[in-house]
Amino acid sequence: MELSRTQVAIVGAGPAGLALAHLLDRCGVDSVVLEARSRHHVEHRVRAGVLEHPTVRLLCDTGVGERLQREGLEHGGISLRFDRADHRIDFAALTGKGITVYGQQEVVKDLIAARLAAGGEILFGVDDVRVREIDTDAPEVAFTDGDGAERVLRAAVVAGCDGFHGVCRPTIPPGALRVFERDYPFAWLGILAKAAPAQEEVTYAHGDRGFALASMRSPEVTRLYLQVDPDESLEAWPDDRIWEELNARLAVDGGSALNEGPIVERGITAMRSFVVEPMRHGRLFLAGDAAHIVPATGAKGMNLAVADVAVLAEALERFFATGRTDLLDAYSDRCLRRVWRAEHFSWWMTSMLHLAPGADPFERRLQLSQLRYVASSPAAATSLAENYVGLPYGS
Ligand code: FAD
Ligand code: PHB
Repeated sequence: MELSRTQVAIVGAGPAGLALAHLLDRCGVDSVVLEARSRHHVEHRVRAGVLEHPTVRLLCDTGVGERLQREGLEHGGISLRFDRADHRIDFAALTGKGITVYGQQEVVKDLIAARLAAGGEILFGVDDVRVREIDTDAPEVAFTDGDGAERVLRAAVVAGCDGFHGVCRPTIPPGALRVFERDYPFAWLGILAKAAPAQEEVTYAHGDRGFALASMRSPEVTRLYLQVDPDESLEAWPDDRIWEELNARLAVDGGSALNEGPIVERGITAMRSFVVEPMRHGRLFLAGDAAHIVPATGAKGMNLAVADVAVLAEALERFFATGRTDLLDAYSDRCLRRVWRAEHFSWWMTSMLHLAPGADPFERRLQLSQLRYVASSPAAATSLAENYVGLPYGS
């Protein structure tokens, strides 16, 4: 059994784990990242696509924004599509800020490249990860490495960045955590198609057939989503049915809804709200999806993951430089303020835009009234806009 040491053992090479390793490196703190999947897998996993303003700033300010600035699509607003017409929310005018459309797997590629170029250690393909001794000041992570060798990594702190289904959160005694959750009676079927986006900005469509979302990844690639039943299977959705439903839900008067093209990727994602409090137990700190999930309607998941580790990196920098634990002790509360804002925003966007099965006419009228209000009142639109572009860190 091989024993090694580092200052921070990071479980998971998603946006949270990789951004944390990158930020720690910049303040001279050592880390090792342990990832269950292969490098190819994490670099090609299609997920989120919208980077909020503070995320873009952080990536650019810390030297991993070069390709993002070159290839990312900067947007000054989004469109709400209802009553068969587009209603633009002008983020630039309302907040002076915008968003950048850049696939999560591209962020992951950039962070991995930066980490490896800096001589950092990311162990892909590890198995049987066990986090131990988190109640002591010498926690450790036991695992089997990609070659099948048994190893133990000792650290001062373990960062649980291993997503919703990871092993870190379950190592915390259940009585020490409070769980808040909500399931929604729908899921998203998402596709990536080789077709030019038909609209210039991310478009959220609400209508009698349910919700649909038209986004993009590049001038040649469209990302589209449909609200479907939570237990829906992909087999029930051949290409023709997907396009027919997308065209129907995204229809506008006097314009073509979509450009069609070969579907190169498809998947179904559950819609869930979930938070654990606190986001820390002893020397184990949870970040990103390991601690909280939002329904994707607010495009907040990846952004929250990055915001968590910005707070954690600052706390760890102080801890390793001075031995002071004040920022580590404040970590959970500081993150949870932002997490709950994003939880509320994501829940609100989800409720406003989706069609709940069995929704009665009263609820439908309330949704439409809210949509019309947001589309016509600068006060209501500003509230949506400032949440969507991302509130400043620390607010
Ligand atoms: P993750 O990206 O989940 O990374 C966790 C990492 O830990 C993974 O690489 C995983 O392989 C690894 N891991 C797990 N268990 C172990 C273990 N035992 N040992 C070692 N490593 C482990 N958000 C949006 O805004 N829009 C979207 O369209 C959208 N689509 C999504 C689709 C899916 C299928 C999922 C799961 C999420 C989606 N999200 C979306 C949310 C967004 O992608 C996440 O919020 C974001 O990935 C969170 O980053 P993270 O680093 O916390 O977790
Ligand atoms: C995406 O482009 O994948 C996307 C955009 C907006 C969302 C969710 C996902 O709310």
